[in-house]
Amino acid sequence: MKNTFLARRARSHRVLAAATVFALGSWLVAVTAVQTTVSPVLAAATHVDNPYDGGQGYVNPEWKAKAESEPGGSQISDTPTGVWIDRIAAIEGTDDSSSNGSMGVRDHLDEALSQGAAYIQFVIYDLPGRDCAALASNGELGPEEIDRYRNEYIDPIAEIMADSAYEDLRIITIIEIDSLPNLITNTGDRETKTDECDVMLANGNYVTGVQYALDQLHAITNVYTYIDAAHHGWIGWSSNFDPAAELFASTAQGTTDGFDSVDGFITNTANYSALNEPYITVNAETKLSSWIDWNDYNDESTFATAFRSKLVSLGFNSDLGMLIDTSRNGWGGSDRPTGASSASDVDTMVDDSRIDRRIHKGNWCNQSGAGLGERPTVSPASGIDAYVWIKPPGESDGSSELIPNDEGKGFDEMCDPAYEGNPRNQNNLSGALPNAPISGAWFSAQFQELLANAYPAL
Ligand code: BGC
Repeated sequence: MKNTFLARRARSHRVLAAATVFALGSWLVAVTAVQTTVSPVLAAATHVDNPYDGGQGYVNPEWKAKAESEPGGSQISDTPTGVWIDRIAAIEGTDDSSSNGSMGVRDHLDEALSQGAAYIQFVIYDLPGRDCAALASNGELGPEEIDRYRNEYIDPIAEIMADSAYEDLRIITIIEIDSLPNLITNTGDRETKTDECDVMLANGNYVTGVQYALDQLHAITNVYTYIDAAHHGWIGWSSNFDPAAELFASTAQGTTDGFDSVDGFITNTANYSALNEPYITVNAETKLSSWIDWNDYNDESTFATAFRSKLVSLGFNSDLGMLIDTSRNGWGGSDRPTGASSASDVDTMVDDSRIDRRIHKGNWCNQSGAGLGERPTVSPASGIDAYVWIKPPGESDGSSELIPNDEGKGFDEMCDPAYEGNPRNQNNLSGALPNAPISGAWFSAQFQELLANAYPAL
């Protein structure tokens, strides 16, 4: 367990104080006074195993207002969702109408205090050369701008989070979506490689950036770090699974506190992979289907559990906690299968049985037919700290055509419904909804579909 020393020290102080009260009877008043001054310090030094366990999560008022502007939206508008710090300007907050809100980090933390929230979730997302295998969320920093990442992005965030005003709040950070897995699957001689990912592998700035973020954030006792670990349809294949876990391990080992600087990992962030596929077993036969395609996993529950074991076997702490983003992986509605197909052709059988209705698992942008997934849940299964909603439902994954903007958002054809794909989705149609705004901006039609196809239903 992390910070065992501090936790133990806190416990022994409490025991000592109690014993003193018992033994010294008439000194009670004096001892109580000492306790009063000591307790807040001890409370501040606490770093719990599962930060989700112990109270309400922060509800982002800006997302809540958008959800409530939609018919039916108030059914879910009190749900905690991730606050994405997706560029330097988002730290202080903006007063313009940027795609996903104008409150800065301090505004959110102050609001969390006034809500009496127990925890708040931030997404740390601004690496140099961000999103090297896609364009919709390319960032503002060029591949070599690691110094700006350190000085203008991570340092100011850490400084705000370290403010003692927030020491009783559990501040959960989701660290750099899609970055390290891209170095494994989209580089070198892989068919799926991009030149941009090759650059990030060669210059080392994804690893350096993640290590810097871990060092600065882990140093704050009430901050929790969860690294993004893609999803089963990305690193579930054994050729990706082991190398990805090894890269996470070497990255953690290169931080000041090593494995202790990582509280856990998150899978499926902003993705659509099903939590469970109840009507399909992964075996020698079903692996032959084009849907599973030799992957060892076919849903996030089995993948997250197995990946956790792999990580622990490489040296991560045995209390490592997994999170699964379930904001948009429900796949309910009338197209949801209600039982296993008995078709003899394996492709037909798997396709007719699967909950995930995507055209291909490599599809990731504004997926048609998706629904809200499990509502955020604490400790839903062994090794899983929580199901969370990190991608706020209703916020676009990317525009379906080029829309000029000043947020560094590009146009990725995977968001165009007419696009016929690339090696990363084995040249399938993108499955994206039409008429989408830039990533992060409100997409009413998608929000409505997510409500209608929610599973569990609303
Ligand atoms: C975008 C961010 C946005 C986030 C949450 C990402 O794809 O790049 O700007 O904040 O999604 O909607």
